[in-house]
Amino acid sequence: MNETVYGIISDVHEHPEFVPFAVHVLKQLGAQKLIVNGDIGGRYGSLRDSQDFTAQILAPLVESGLETFVQPGSHETLDVFEPVVNYFTERHPQLHSALEHPFSEQNGHDLIFLPGSDFTCGGQYLLCASSDKNELPSGKYAITIHNEFIPLKERKQIELLANLDKIAGVVYVINMSDLERLVKRPEQTLVVCHVPPKFGNTSVGIDMAHFGVTNETFDICVGVDLDGKKRYVIHKGPIEAFRAKCQKLGIQEIINRQVVYDGSIFPQREAESWIAYGAPITLKIENRGNVDLRRLYDELGIRKAVSGHFHESVHRAHDASCKQVPEGAFTQELFWNASYLDEMKVGLLKTRDANAAYRNILLREHLRFDSP
Ligand SMILES: [Fe+2]
Repeated sequence: MNETVYGIISDVHEHPEFVPFAVHVLKQLGAQKLIVNGDIGGRYGSLRDSQDFTAQILAPLVESGLETFVQPGSHETLDVFEPVVNYFTERHPQLHSALEHPFSEQNGHDLIFLPGSDFTCGGQYLLCASSDKNELPSGKYAITIHNEFIPLKERKQIELLANLDKIAGVVYVINMSDLERLVKRPEQTLVVCHVPPKFGNTSVGIDMAHFGVTNETFDICVGVDLDGKKRYVIHKGPIEAFRAKCQKLGIQEIINRQVVYDGSIFPQREAESWIAYGAPITLKIENRGNVDLRRLYDELGIRKAVSGHFHESVHRAHDASCKQVPEGAFTQELFWNASYLDEMKVGLLKTRDANAAYRNILLREHLRFDSP
């Protein structure tokens, strides 16, 4: 029988030190291969500190000796993710970067990766629909201050614009239409993408999210008071009210000012902290999966996909109609939010040709007996 057991880890924002234990438990529970589905790095202080964060996650994975696939999600940056992943892949042939190898034929099924995210929290791997950004093919782009995307290979043009201070940043675009050429036998295909497709049920859906949204434009200002301490002030409306707030807080100088536009979205925790400062942000609960990805999965006949991203929905699993799929049951249709390691939640997926069964792993339950 063609069976493979994958251990799945994702969303490691604060606790990279949990990874060795997660790998140990997954391996003990039968994982034959490992999948790292994004959010394993971002900006953590200096560039060196940020690279160390991602390296701390990858080291125990390669030490496991298991074949491992790794891809970026919403937070990874080009100067952290790429060099660190390259460092490990050059030394450990069992580690594969999904950016380099998005497709692999496995034991009775095809494993396909769709890296990046449609909502990048400082990350630089941008998952786009084929209709977005004038149908940009996947690859690296410089972004101008007017939000134009120029392929990185157009070096002369980019240098010219950079000299005029017109380059705002660099991004790695992943066009989700790449799936059209990668999917060869949809029934036997498992897609791994940090972002889930859109569903329509908040109580069951793997894409249910708690988030904050603003319906007016405002400024987040960072000032320093007489003691040199940082103070945050939300500014909207008349300048007099802003000045009065600054005076009340003893602010001597504004050192940074960021405009937040009407319609901006915030992760829940960030939204709550800005609300505490008086920001006009409303908390919401909605299905926030990707509409284009859902359409593409439907068109291509993708019926098994693993995601992460929305931490509030971790360990939810259902079919295409949002009917819950029980743990351990082999099914041809499975959409599963497999892991949020910061909460010590990871997953095991067993594939059997066109079928798959999932198991939610609560690492806390293994602390007492299985510690390495
Ligand atoms: Fe995350």
